[in-house]
Amino acid sequence: MEKLSITTLAVSSVVLMFLSVASAEEIYGRRLDAKAYSLEKQRLSHFRFYWHEIHNGKNPTAMTVVQPPLNATGASTGFGIVDIIDSPLTIAPEISSRMVARAQGLYTSTSQEEVALLMVMNFVFLEGEYNGSTITVMGRNPVFHEVREMPVVGGSGLFRFAQGYAELRTHSFDPKIRNANIEYNVFVMH
Ligand SMILES: *[C@@H]1O[C@H](CO)[C@@H](O)[C@H](O)[C@H]1NC(C)=O
Ligand SMILES: *[C@@H]1O[C@H](CO)[C@@H](O)[C@H](O)[C@H]1NC(C)=O
Repeated sequence: MEKLSITTLAVSSVVLMFLSVASAEEIYGRRLDAKAYSLEKQRLSHFRFYWHEIHNGKNPTAMTVVQPPLNATGASTGFGIVDIIDSPLTIAPEISSRMVARAQGLYTSTSQEEVALLMVMNFVFLEGEYNGSTITVMGRNPVFHEVREMPVVGGSGLFRFAQGYAELRTHSFDPKIRNANIEYNVFVMH
């Protein structure tokens, strides 16, 4: 008999606990109707543009902010270097062609075996229905591979809930001053 009442007590206190957890001011997470957030009509988009990294001249688009001590690790991969970028994204390889977005972010050389960058960038769109929306890319870029791939990890505005990937191909590269022109093909579900 005593055992039973202890069990009853335990069960009712658990029930009470759940009841108190569910009280209105304690709810911080809840299910939503996906339709209300346009998730039932996801679309797949493809963008192709050219990414310009320019270190010299009047209008550089990249700045080295951390230059590791020469030969600190013995690696010849620029290991530890950090660059901040605000690179135009243009519809054709020529920098004078129409700029549709900018790539703002940073990258750092994170491999001691080959030149491979950790890149973190927001693509800020500047025109049409995409104006003001962003796509965020974060990934590994082994720059001397013919094709590299980095994940699209999210977005804002028209790109809320975005996921996808970017494919990179080098259009031109000047190893002396590290100026680069890279073709980006971005596939994004949003
Ligand atoms: C750089 O480091 C490597 C590995 O420690 C060493 O073999 C090489 O001699 C160093 N080079 C210079 C210029 O100090
Ligand atoms: C993009 O949006 C900005 C800010 O709202 C506006 O100033 C600009 O004119 C727009 N650009 C285009 C091409 O629509």
